Formats: sequence, C-alpha cells, structure tokens
Amino acid sequence: MSSISLREITKAFGETKVLNGVNLDIQDGEFITLVGPSGCGKSTLLRILAGLETADGGAVRIGDTDVTHTRPSARNLAMVFQSYALYPHLSVAQNMLTPLLLRDLTTAERLPILGPLLSRSKRRALMDQVDSAAQTLKIKDLLPRKPGQLSGGQRQRVALGRAMVRNPVAFLMDEPLSNLDAALRVHMRSELAELHRRLKTTFVYVTHDQAEALTMSDRMAVMMGGHILQFGRPDDIYRDPDSLAVAQFVGSPGINTIPGEIADNGQLYVQGKRIATVHGTARQPVTVGIRPEHLTISHTGQFKGVVRHRENLGSDIFLHVAVEGLTQVAVLRANPDQAATLGAQVAFDMNPDRVLVFDSQGARVRMSVPKMAVMA
Ligand SMILES: Nc1ncnc2c1ncn2[C@@H]1O[C@H](COP(=O)(O)OP(=O)(O)O)[C@@H](O)[C@H]1O
Ligand SMILES: [Mg+2]
Repeated sequence: MSSISLREITKAFGETKVLNGVNLDIQDGEFITLVGPSGCGKSTLLRILAGLETADGGAVRIGDTDVTHTRPSARNLAMVFQSYALYPHLSVAQNMLTPLLLRDLTTAERLPILGPLLSRSKRRALMDQVDSAAQTLKIKDLLPRKPGQLSGGQRQRVALGRAMVRNPVAFLMDEPLSNLDAALRVHMRSELAELHRRLKTTFVYVTHDQAEALTMSDRMAVMMGGHILQFGRPDDIYRDPDSLAVAQFVGSPGINTIPGEIADNGQLYVQGKRIATVHGTARQPVTVGIRPEHLTISHTGQFKGVVRHRENLGSDIFLHVAVEGLTQVAVLRANPDQAATLGAQVAFDMNPDRVLVFDSQGARVRMSVPKMAVMA
C-alpha cells in the first residue's frame, strides 16, 4: 500500500509565502493533477513531495512511512521533468539503463559496464527491464538512437521509460508536455492516461493547463494562493465548484459571470428577471455563474443581445453576445445550424438547473433542492 499524504505543508522563500498549510491525500494508483495558475506553488509542492525541496513545516508520508526527512533517492519516487534531461551522448537504451546501473550495481560493477566484472546474466536482467519498459511505451525501435535523433514526443516517452525501469512507488511529473506542439500535446494526454491504466501506479501530475487536468486525472487539486481550493473528480470540479475562483479557472471558454440578487422571496433575479428558486438563503447581491453550454438560444428567450463575435470551432460555435443592460459579453454555445451572423439579434435563456450562485466573497451559495416526498 503506497498512499501519499501531505499534511499542513508550509513553505516560504524569504518574505514570500508560497504554501500556506497544504493538505492532500492521494490513494494508491490514482492519477492526480495539481493544477493552478503559474506561480501558485505547484512545482514547489511536487518538489517537497520528491524531497528535492525542504518544507518549513508539515509532514510527507508514503504508505505508513514518514518520509519528511528522507533523502530523495530513498523515497523511490520517479520525477519526470519538462526538460527531458536525457544524456545526449548515450543511446536511448543506455539512457534507460542508467538509473538501474546507479541503483543495482556495486561501484566496481558500474565502471567496466561492458567488461568482465558485470556478469552476462546480470546485464541481461537489466536489459530485460529496459526492453519491457520500451515495449510498454512502444519505443523498442528507438533503443539504438541518440536523443538528438528523436522528436519531442519520442524524447518525452524515453524520459518516462527511464523513470519506469526503476519501478517507482509513484511518478511525479512537472508540466511534462509543455515543450510539445499543440497536436502532440493532445495526443500525449491520451497516451499518458492509457499508460496510467496499464501501469496502475500513482501519477502526480503538475500543470497550469486546466484542460490537461480535466481530461487525464482521476482527481484534480485546484491550487491558488498557496492553498488547495478544491480537490475532486474533474466532473465534480466542473459542475459543482465550491468557489467562483474554481468555477472561473476550469472550462474553456470560461464560465459567464453576471451580477444578480437573491430576494426576500427566495428567488434569484438577474436584471429583474426571475431565474431560479434559491431556498433558505438570505437576501443578498450575488454573482451568477453560467457556462456557455447552459445558455440556450430561443425565440422567446428572457435575455436579448447582439452577436459581436463568432468563435467557430467546427463542431461548435461560440457566440459572444452583447446583452442589453449588461456591461460584460455573454458567451453561449450554439450548434452550427443556429449560426447567427455577426450583428444579429439573439434571445436566450439560462438553464435554471445549471445556474451557479456565489456570494460577495466568491463562496458558493448552494441552492437547496426542495424536499421530495419520501415514500414509506
Ligand atoms: N528557489 C526559489 N527561490 C525563490 N522563490 C522561489 C523559488 N522557487 C519558487 N519560488 C517562487 O515561489 C512561487 C511558486 O513557485 P512554483 O512552485 O514554481 O509555482 P508554479 O509551479 O505553480 O508555477 C513563485 O512566486 C516563485 O517565484
Ligand atoms: Mg511550475
């Protein structure tokens, strides 16, 4: 059992507090992403987990062992960096063999690696591990090549392979796809997810890209301001965010935010129009969050506006609509058949079931669902 637990981790660089008491519990075999804007402390947290950085306070546990003061090499975690850090003068096979040589051989055996001291059977056993990792990653035909003869995606796979041969407790990855072009990045997302399903080893993956987090992870931890704001399944983070900050961070195009108010009668109003019923919450000004796919064009729509921009993605068209009485533009998803032209008038409604309400502090105001009669 190798669950990972981070407890009350704090870290400051000089006067700058970077981590303000971070707690995170990762189950054995999970694919976790740490996601948040640049500078929010993701890499620092990952490096503390790896042992490459020392926390000011808090504890790191792997399985039943407190590793807070354990040196990195004894934690048996494999770090895969954004810069692949491959040895340029060694072949792919030798690059993948190196961590095994460093770990498994005595000093005497390491030196004459091609010589008589390293028994043939031992060398064969090590090469078998390299072969098996290469097989999993589908890079067997690349083994004789040098890193300079590989594409970015192939180098990324070799870097993963070098981590895999050590059979680590977990893979730690810091923005491993950011050097790749857009198409390859999307392809590698599905490869990494598939690799994770085959290996069933814990992945802790750092990214600033919410799309990577949503597409790959079992659970994602959204970090901001030195805290984890929310930790959960991508679906839940997207559909049911705890705060305006999380709601705005995930999703592309982003969620629409529109001023509204909850009145004494428990109704939610936007521009004087009744949107939904919000039981059990006090009268207050609120921010209404509604995603582009939950605004529906309709001739009888409550809201009216003019199309200012059309974002054509082929399968979907996002219409940017200047709404009467609102300062901000509303973005709504239309299917290409509803393709309104620039300057056209459109009317739309908000799906009341998918409206998210936030108070003046940005905390979620949950709409309590009216109780259903319980059948005896
Ligand atoms: N070694 C360091 N010395 C001083 N400041 C650092 C150091 N490492 C990181 N920082 C600062 O800590 C903050 C968080 O950095 P980092 O963890 O790299 O963020 P992220 O990976 O989320 O982009 C940033 O403001 C960064 O400038
Ligand atoms: Mg970083």
